[in-house]
Amino acid sequence: MAIERTLSIIKPDATRRNLTGAINARFEERGLRIVAQRRVQLTQTQAEGFYAVHKERSFFGSLVAFMCSGPVVVQVLEGENAVTLNREIMGATNPANAEAGTIRKDFAESIEANSVHGSDSPENAAKEIAYFFSEVDIVG
Ligand code: PPS
Repeated sequence: MAIERTLSIIKPDATRRNLTGAINARFEERGLRIVAQRRVQLTQTQAEGFYAVHKERSFFGSLVAFMCSGPVVVQVLEGENAVTLNREIMGATNPANAEAGTIRKDFAESIEANSVHGSDSPENAAKEIAYFFSEVDIVG
């Protein structure tokens, strides 16, 4: 199995409740290594750019406002099958549908305030990592 990298974001609902360490422990317990990490306050322009693929969706404005409502932690996770493994660890987008033991089942407040983002494919992971990090920021 190839070693992959994926982009993760710990969202404002989780940083507000001081859950960064608890969420990072979920990643590390499952073998994902945090090889880059930065706490940032996103600007509206940054959030709109990151979620541009959703710009026609009805919830776009609300999602962007939420992502700028407090600090986020952007991070690169590395490990075997990291993209798929991270999505398993996160659970379904809507916490009502998330499996027991996942981050979203245990911590998310709603489909919007759902505590974490994770890339959905290796191709998008590469783009999303480059959105926030230079190669020199990533130390494997
Ligand atoms: S997709 O394209 O259908 O798979 O998109 P989805 O995974 O459902 O959601 C993409 C991101 O949009 C957020 N989302 C919402 N935000 C606010 N309101 C509503 N109703 C809503 N529905 C989805 C969802 O949390 C996803 O965020 P990320 O950061 O990509 O996980």
